[in-house]
Amino acid sequence: MCGIFGCILKNGEAAPTIHGALKRLEYRGYDSVGTATLHKNKLFIKKDNGKIDEVHALHDLDNLPGRIGVGHTRWATHGAPYQENAHPHTDCENQIAAVHNGIIENFAELKMELEERGHVFRSKTDTEIIPHFIEEEMKEGLTLVEALRETVKQLDGSYAIAVVSVKEPDKIVCVRKESPLVVGIADNDVYCASDIPAFLPMTNRYVIVQDGEIVVLNDEGYEIWNILDWKQVTRNPEIVDWSPKMAEKQGYPHFMLKEINEQPLSLRNTLRLQDQYLDLMTTFLDRAGEVFLVACGTSYHACLAASYMFSKLALLATHPVIASEFVEQHGKSVNIDSTLLVVSQSGETADTLATVDGAKLRAATVLALTNVVGSTLTRVARVYICQQSGPEVGVAATKTFTSQLSVLSQLALRLAKMRGKISHVEIENLEEKLEQIPDIVEKNIQTQKEKVKQLAKKYRDKQCFFFLGRGISSAVALEGKLKLMEIAYAPSLAYPAGESKHGPISLIEPGFPVIFICPKDDTHKTIVGNIMEMKARGASIIVVIEKGDEELKSLADEYIEIETGLPEVLSPIPFVIPLQLFAYYMAIERKCDPDMPRNLAKSVTVR
Ligand code: G6P
Repeated sequence: MCGIFGCILKNGEAAPTIHGALKRLEYRGYDSVGTATLHKNKLFIKKDNGKIDEVHALHDLDNLPGRIGVGHTRWATHGAPYQENAHPHTDCENQIAAVHNGIIENFAELKMELEERGHVFRSKTDTEIIPHFIEEEMKEGLTLVEALRETVKQLDGSYAIAVVSVKEPDKIVCVRKESPLVVGIADNDVYCASDIPAFLPMTNRYVIVQDGEIVVLNDEGYEIWNILDWKQVTRNPEIVDWSPKMAEKQGYPHFMLKEINEQPLSLRNTLRLQDQYLDLMTTFLDRAGEVFLVACGTSYHACLAASYMFSKLALLATHPVIASEFVEQHGKSVNIDSTLLVVSQSGETADTLATVDGAKLRAATVLALTNVVGSTLTRVARVYICQQSGPEVGVAATKTFTSQLSVLSQLALRLAKMRGKISHVEIENLEEKLEQIPDIVEKNIQTQKEKVKQLAKKYRDKQCFFFLGRGISSAVALEGKLKLMEIAYAPSLAYPAGESKHGPISLIEPGFPVIFICPKDDTHKTIVGNIMEMKARGASIIVVIEKGDEELKSLADEYIEIETGLPEVLSPIPFVIPLQLFAYYMAIERKCDPDMPRNLAKSVTVR
């Protein structure tokens, strides 16, 4: 899981452009970085381990000659993050440089064959076999594009690869299978990248490269070739309406804070989705024999919350399943009557896509909710909805989570309507409340910031945190825990509050912080009992409550009030906001970088 980039400029030096693009791709991994440029029939390479800014400070990534080049920001899979494992990788004669995102599964045997034929490897990566194979093919007389075609025919696994060679110094050749790859087209220049924001400041015209396609970039633009039949593919550019500003920090110290603050806007966008897609998906859900809600990470928490929404509103039982477990748990039983609603912000999560593959083989119907149009998920799903959150750069999902909740609640509501399961009055009330959510969230972000910041200051040195909620709020508890753990490195637990008595309560000792998520719904009465149990054992009780909940205010050591007036099924949206802010400010207090938590990546394209 890495970010790749390449550019051919008519004028100017490629290196600063590559550097800027890699910064915008850094969310995909930041273990190491490297750039290769072509100039006067020579290859120039700078690469090292560390974040881009660190490597730039040491090596000046802007200072390489030439108007053509490729770059890479790495999330280590094969080979530790050392300098020799950083991309670009080269052949024996330093004539060919390749950058790669993905995993070559059969690299060990291929490497052995190449070594037997005299190739010398410098890294432990799977990627390095690529320039060596191309070297062999080009020695046989093939052109660069033909050599890359023959090379990828031997590879098992996933890849987006971009290659340059001093032998054909006017072009970049790139290819894709299962890892994302897009081409950007400006008036004079052309780019390839793992993701659109890489070239967004330069152009908003893009072409998505499909699996099994090779692209040749040169001064004339781009040519796409299908590897199997070697026919040229015609695909005109599309326009992305993200402004470059949308992909920057807009004055916030971190992308995460910017994205938390963008939630009123992203939630408004979810209310403008096209009816026809929502209705189509609702029809599929209505006809399904059984419905699985499948995802990883934060998207899984959205699925968990959605299972309460579907059950409460539409009386539809659904099974929320973590994607990496789906095949083991349900792979054999899934069938033509099964429907999977797959949720993935990136649309590229490997475990999620593997689930889709398995389910489709068994004739199940796959529906998708994602934030990335053109992602693999959008191509494999029968119907998909784009949640329209705009790019999310912070590794921790925030705005995309609340948008997922909004879309899923709309689907549950439509299904309820279609099935006649709730009254008109209830439907109208829910529709009205949905419309109010962006304003409610806007107000809450403003009023909670200071309070949550103070809480983070007070609790920053605590070793461990406990998040508890009942009903739909148990999904919020899990998400609050995940946020705090992933960006502030605070070991945390989350449970449905009722389950806390079956083990976790033994951890409680005086001062142990327990955060309760307590909307005024049917679970309120019961959660009071759970609070008392923790209080009796000396826990520090922090409650997230609805404004005016005097009962819980009097029981708690700390409280955060939410102005909502929302029905239970919509409560996760405003209730998760203070937990996102708490994680953010805890990360700041504990001197962690919230945008780049260690060992994590935004899009996990390996299993
Ligand atoms: C990674 C990200 C999480 C995300 C998860 C699932 O772990 O760091 O923020 O929730 O992947 O990603 P997806 O793109 O499938 O929603």
